[in-house]
Formats: sequence, C-alpha cells, structure tokens
Amino acid sequence: MAQYRRVSGSVGLITLQNPPVNALSASVRQGIVDSVKRALGDQKVKSVVICGQNGVFCGGADIREFGRQMSGPPLVPMIHDIEAANKPVVAAIEGSALGGGLELALGCHYRISHSKAVVYHCFIMTMSDQAKLGLPEVTLGLLPAAGGTQRLPRLIGVPAALNLITTGRHVTAAEALQLGILDHVTEHNTVDVAVKFALSVTGESLDGRRISSFSCAPLSDLDSLFEEAMLKVRSAARGAIAPVACVQAVRAAATLPYAQGMEREKELMATLFHSGQARALQYFFFAQRAVGRWSTPSGARWDTSQPRPVRKAAVIGLGTMGRGITVALAQAGLSVVAVETHAKQLMEATKAVPSMLKRGAVRGGTTIEPDSITYSQNLQAVADVDLVIEAVFEDMALKEKVFQQLSIICKPDTLLCTNTSSLDVDHLASQTRHPELVVGMHFFAPAHVMKLLEVVYGRRSSPAAVATAMQLGKKMGKVSVAVGNCRGFAGNRMLKRYLEQAFFLLEEGATPELVDRALEEFGFPMGVFRMSDLSGLDVGWRVRKADGLADTSLTGTSARVRQGCRYSPLGDLLCEHGRFGQKTGRGWYQYDKPGGRVAKSDPWLHNFLDEYRARHGLVPRCIDQQEVLERCLFVLINEGFQILEEGIAAGPEDIDAIYVFGYGWPRHRGGPMFYADMVGLERVVERLERYHQAHPDVPYLQPSGLLRRLVANGSPPIHKWRNVIKNRNSQL
Ligand code: NAI
Repeated sequence: MAQYRRVSGSVGLITLQNPPVNALSASVRQGIVDSVKRALGDQKVKSVVICGQNGVFCGGADIREFGRQMSGPPLVPMIHDIEAANKPVVAAIEGSALGGGLELALGCHYRISHSKAVVYHCFIMTMSDQAKLGLPEVTLGLLPAAGGTQRLPRLIGVPAALNLITTGRHVTAAEALQLGILDHVTEHNTVDVAVKFALSVTGESLDGRRISSFSCAPLSDLDSLFEEAMLKVRSAARGAIAPVACVQAVRAAATLPYAQGMEREKELMATLFHSGQARALQYFFFAQRAVGRWSTPSGARWDTSQPRPVRKAAVIGLGTMGRGITVALAQAGLSVVAVETHAKQLMEATKAVPSMLKRGAVRGGTTIEPDSITYSQNLQAVADVDLVIEAVFEDMALKEKVFQQLSIICKPDTLLCTNTSSLDVDHLASQTRHPELVVGMHFFAPAHVMKLLEVVYGRRSSPAAVATAMQLGKKMGKVSVAVGNCRGFAGNRMLKRYLEQAFFLLEEGATPELVDRALEEFGFPMGVFRMSDLSGLDVGWRVRKADGLADTSLTGTSARVRQGCRYSPLGDLLCEHGRFGQKTGRGWYQYDKPGGRVAKSDPWLHNFLDEYRARHGLVPRCIDQQEVLERCLFVLINEGFQILEEGIAAGPEDIDAIYVFGYGWPRHRGGPMFYADMVGLERVVERLERYHQAHPDVPYLQPSGLLRRLVANGSPPIHKWRNVIKNRNSQL
C-alpha cells in the first residue's frame, strides 16, 4: 500500500507502507500509481515527495512474489510515469533504497537522504546511522531490470555503475552523495527536509532532471573498458551468469539510446529470470534465513529458547584459531580474556591480534578499543567470564584436562565451548560439573574472516546454551548453523568422503590437475588438491595417525584396505616424504619456496603416482570431468542425506549454508543439497549405484536410505524434504 496526503499546502506526500522494508509488492505498486495520478491531477499540488514508513524508503522487489503469476502494475512504466511527470518528484531516502527501491528513486527528479556526521576517532573514520543504497539483484541471479542498468550509468558514469551493478555492493549515503546518486544529504528529518526542498523547486524546469534523457559521460576507450570489465567479472563470477549479463546491460546503456537500452535490459533479464542459477540464488537467500530458525531432535527451538547475555568471553589457546576468534569477539564488542600457556606463543599473539584488529578496522571503517582484550598465561584469569571458547591443540587428553579445570575455575553458569573440529562434544561435556552448559563452536580458518560457525549441540546441551552460542555467532557476524554431535559434525564429515574419492581418482589414473580443474570449473575457488596444499596435508595425516589409519608399513592388498573398506594411503605417503603442501613448498603441487602460493605441476608427483599404481597393479584409465564431479560431489551429497536422516542437521538449508559459507561451494549452485535437487534425485541415485557396482569396497557409494525414500516418494522438491524426514523420525 501507499498512503497519500497533501502537506505544507502544495506538496503531495506518498508514503510506501509494506513492513518491514516497504517492498514493492503488487499493492504497493498500485498504491504508488494511484497516488502519483492523484498528485499530478490535483491543481493544488505543485510538487511530490515519495518516502517510506518506519524510517525505511524501500527494500526493493517483494521476493515472495517471485515465481508467482505477475499481478498489479509493472515497475518499468510506473517509474517511467514518475520521471515523465511535469511536477518535481523528490525521493526522501531513509534506511535503505535497494534494488527496485533505488530504481524508483532514480526515476524521481531529486534524491535526498540522511547521514549522520562523520566522526574521527584514532584517525579512523566512523559513520553510523546512514542510509544504504544499492542494486543487489546480481546476488539473486538477476539484474536491476526496472531501468537500473540504464539510468545509473547515465547518472554516475559507466565505471562506477559497473562496480555497483556487477557486485551488488551497498553504499552509504555519504558515498552515494560522492558518486552523484544523491543530490543532498541531511542530518535532520529527511522527509521534512525533502518537503521543504520540494517547495523550493516548485515550478522549476525538469528538463535536466530526467535521467533517461542523459547520455553516459563519454569515455576514451569504451571497448577496452568493457573488455576489462568482462574479464574481471568472469574471473570473479566462477561461472555465475548474472554478473556477465549486468556488464552487457551497462554496455547497452553506454552505446544505445535509452529506449533500445531498456529493450536489451529486458531481454537479458528474461534469460536470467528463468535460469537455474537465479533459482539457486533465491533458494539460498531464504536458506540463509532458515538456518537461524534452528531446532534440535530433543525439541529445543530458536523461538522458545532464551539466549543468555554474554559480555565477557575468554579464549583458551592463541594459535591459528584462537587468535582469529579473539579478534572476532573483540570486533563484536565483547571484552575478551585471551589465555595461552606457552610464553612464546603468548608474546606472538599479543602482537598479532592487535594488528589483525587494526587491519579489520581499516577495512570496515570502524574502531576497536585494543584494551578490550587482556592476555594471560594463567587459566585463573577466566574466573569471571560469561563464556569460554577453548581452542587448544586437537588432543582429547589435553582438552579433557582443560575442561576439568574450567569447570572448577569458572562461575557455575559460564558456558564452556570447544572449537574442536572433530572430537566428541558429549565426552568433553562429561568432564564438567554442568554438561548442559557445554556446546561446540566450530569456527573456520581464518576465524575472524570466515562466515561459517557450526554450533554443535551435545546430548545434554541445554536449549539456552545452544541459543546463546547461536546468538553470539550472529553478533560476531557469522552465519551460525546448529548441528548435532558426530565425528566431523556436518561439514567435515561430508568433506572426508569428497577427499577420499579424490584420492581414489588419482589411484585410478587422474592427476591433481585434472581433478582440480573439474572442480574449479564447477565453481569452487580451489580444487581439492590445491585446497589441501593450502590447509596443510599434515593436519589430516595427524588425525589419520591418531585413528590408527595412516600405516604405510602395510604391503600388498592390505596397504589399500582399512576396516574392510577401500583406503588410499597416498596422502600419508606424501607426508612421509615431508610434503605438507604450501608450508613446505611441496605437496600435490610444487611451489617456488616454502610458503609460496602459486601451484605448479610437479613431475616428481606424476612419477610418484605412476610408481604407486605400478606397485599396486593399478592400470590407469582415462577419467573425464563428469566422473570427477559425480564421484566427488555425489558422494558428499550422499553423506549429506545420511546426516539429514540421522538428524545431525535439521534440514537441507543447514547443509547448504555450511557448504557455501565454509567450503567454497559456489553460491549460484545453491549448495550441495539444492544441487542434488536440480540434478534430479533419481539421477543421483542411479549414478551412485553405478559407481557402487564398480567399487563395491566403498560402501558409502550406496545411496542413503533417505535419498532412496525421497525418490520412492516421487522426488519432492527440496522445500518438501523435511516432511519426508519428519515422517521417518516419527516411525522410529
Ligand atoms: P594451534 O596449534 O595453532 O594452536 C593451539 C594453541 O593452544 C597453541 O598456541 C598452544 O600453545 C595452545 N595451548 C595448548 N595447550 C594449552 C593450554 N592448556 N592452555 C592454553 N593454551 C594452550 O591450533 P589451531 O589450528 O588453532 O587449532 C585449535 C583447535 O581448533 C583445534 O581443536 C582444532 O581442531 C580446531 N580447529 C582448527 C582449524 C584450523 O584450520 N586450524 C579449523 C577449525 C577448528
């Protein structure tokens, strides 16, 4: 809806009303069309102001209407009519003008927004309470198709418009003013200022105010500018088509008259609108929200569990993870006690953490008080904290001891969290006096950068403990996903299957280059072998040794079998050669020096693989990209179904969020479970069965029970899977 009233005698004030963000639903569009008509037809009205209720201008299209039959007046002619009006129309932008909201504002003759004063603190500029503007359609697999790609470049020039449209980046009012999107910013009430402004421009000519009549500012070498832009976008997009279409649409703005440019924008949008990628990105948009509405098999839920306040937290162990977690906690405004027993590590951390904080502050334009962190070598320093995150070595005996001590030192209601990546959270809980206050908070490296947090609830974790960890994660800017306690939780458990298949493919004749290329073309930022080299091959080796798996003294057939299943010792053998990846300058690839970043093909490795195959009587065969993708991805997906079946993750959205935010799964493919839905569950089953027939010694190639049951239920779409999972649980 839109409310219309006349104010200050001659200003028609149109207020968009559709909480929470005044999205442009059919009824809002109808309200705007009616109000504009009324204002233009009323002789007493000399100018018009458009604003939104509750301090938000407009958050854009109503995404809930996507995929439904189009109803109500379309956006393009609505905006066109506003621009063509013979009375000045002013957009009063509070809160946000995003997507269709900004396109609406671009159709107005003037744009005014609010921005608080700039504050300088410790030489770092902070701006708060500012409106945000942007065209984020690209993040949903679309482009701004209500003239956004045609008006913005005409207003602010091609390079700046390309940047905003291809990234979907939001800008503050201050930046928007600098770019020329806004005519004016104010610290006062935006609507009042806009009304006064509207009165002041009454009767003025609007000839120079209609953006569609502008030409893009001329550029000396348009062709090379667009070539460069296309190259940049293609390399960042990892196969996503929307950013490419955005460049094409902006090119139309720069080279064609407005009306033809609009036609091109429409054509490009039509292609995107029906693409699988737009479906995937829109699914993922909702999936991210769904993970916040967590539940556990014991019945604890997001809406019935009360999180506890956490003002002071402690981090135990200041290695790779502990430092990142300390930074992320401080950035979230908590006071932090950072404990490290080894003096040298402590000393290094006291230098590294402040510099990480400083870099983050410069990037984010904020300030952090460095004295919000205190360092100590003594665990007693955590006596008064509300929550502890343990990040010591991955060693159960050590962690047991730390939890026993924490249980004595901390207040009785302190939450005790572990950052373990695979150990049993229930066992750690059993070491404490209050096992209901123990949960896993599994961050990903680097912990102050990576968005994912797995919150691992144990058998006895209280709903309040889970809610507190989930909320703290959110406060730290993470996407928190609640998962059950099992080896590797959700993410690493699935990853294990994926890694194993990659090793098997090498045994059968593939090379790291071939496997990585297939995965990178699929959209991962790095293939499995380049990624392993980056993380360090020794990490997994240590875990396999602890599990009694990494025994390279075995010969003959037993060298490649563990517990009756196929096993590849390739990773263990590489580690025995001292090849730990980038850190040693050698791994699955070679690097120019230890710590080098550029992976180069390594003839030594290829020889090593040849000798290995010969030693084990493996005849190499030709492996194509399709097999690489199916073997690596379908087995990971199959484990995902198993995780859903066991209730370790509550729904497919949880797994998809984990994989996109923690493991580089390309967002435009929606996550592994959405991908399975797109490929077709029957096909996934058929391929898994075929591979299982070929490799009967790999039991987890057998399709999981849930996957088979979904197929037996007619392969319902992903949003209906929870029903099938629920039915299954109720039968247990
Ligand atoms: P790290 O080896 O870099 O750091 C561990 C730190 O703990 C060391 O500085 C060590 O001196 C300190 N420490 C050992 N005993 C201590 C004690 N009793 N009190 C205080 N400090 C103590 O290890 P990293 O990589 O940071 O891993 C820590 C935990 O995080 C492990 O459980 C690991 O599985 C988990 N993790 C690691 C990830 C990674 O990518 N490195 C990712 C996610 C989880």
